[in-house]
Amino acid sequence: MKLDNLLMKVEDGILTITINREEKLNALNKRTVKELEKAIMDAQKQKEVKAIIITGAGQKSFVSGADIKEFMGLTKQQGKALAKAGQIALQKIETCTKPVLAAINGYALGGGCELAMACHLRIASDNAKFGQPEVNLGLIAGYGGTQRLIQYIGKTKATEMHMSGAIINANEALSLGLVNYVVPQNELLTKSNELLQTIISKSPIAVSGVIKAVNAYFEPRIDGFAKELEEFSKCFTKNDFKEGVAAFLEKRKPDFYKK
Ligand code: COA
Repeated sequence: MKLDNLLMKVEDGILTITINREEKLNALNKRTVKELEKAIMDAQKQKEVKAIIITGAGQKSFVSGADIKEFMGLTKQQGKALAKAGQIALQKIETCTKPVLAAINGYALGGGCELAMACHLRIASDNAKFGQPEVNLGLIAGYGGTQRLIQYIGKTKATEMHMSGAIINANEALSLGLVNYVVPQNELLTKSNELLQTIISKSPIAVSGVIKAVNAYFEPRIDGFAKELEEFSKCFTKNDFKEGVAAFLEKRKPDFYKK
């Protein structure tokens, strides 16, 4: 598979994957999700790759979400398939036995926040913004966000963020425990490489053991992911979703209560 939407660079044992759709704020279309999955599976096998950084092109956005244009007109089944593909790709990242770090260089909204949360570590630039704004579209998170946000910041704030669609800044994300560090944007990749160089100087077997053991703590979540798929795909049968997406594309506020 040709990687049209990703830039790949290996240096000193670290593969940097840059999501390269800057003009769409690096929104994750289906193709990019597939490419990410493929890139991680290949990296898992490549001896010269000891750790992975995922970042976004440009200085404005890490990933602004799933590509909303691809949501238009989906049936419940198609919505479920789209979210399932996203869940599978992100699970490949989470279960990768080499450390994966999200270098969050701007917006990490919806699927972008979900992608960052699937990584083992997260470093944010000081202009980063986080949120699960799917409610504005008449949707809920579908790439594991309803399950993983709780794991990082607890049920109280996670429920509020999913329900309100509120966007938080990098320092709020740090104080909630959503990210490991916040750094000035021009230091983001340096700090990310430094942390990974420390980690890859340790035993790779032990580091992969840490990944597996930490993931094991959250194993009983399988039902939660299935529930998320059910609720996500149901949204596609509702008028709220049609109105939310139409409003986004028409660059206006949605009216979920119009008669
Ligand atoms: N899906 C598809 N296209 C997206 C997108 C997404 N998630 N996020 C941004 N884009 C596109 C915009 O449609 C626009 O394309 P256009 O130039 O062809 O009109 C381009 O990226 C730039 O975005 P724009 O909205 O003009 O930038 P902004 O600086 O005014 O606003 C955001 C930035 C992130 C606040 C805004 O783009 C946004 O709200 N995006 C959607 C976030 C979201 O709901 N994510 C969850 C999706 S499930």
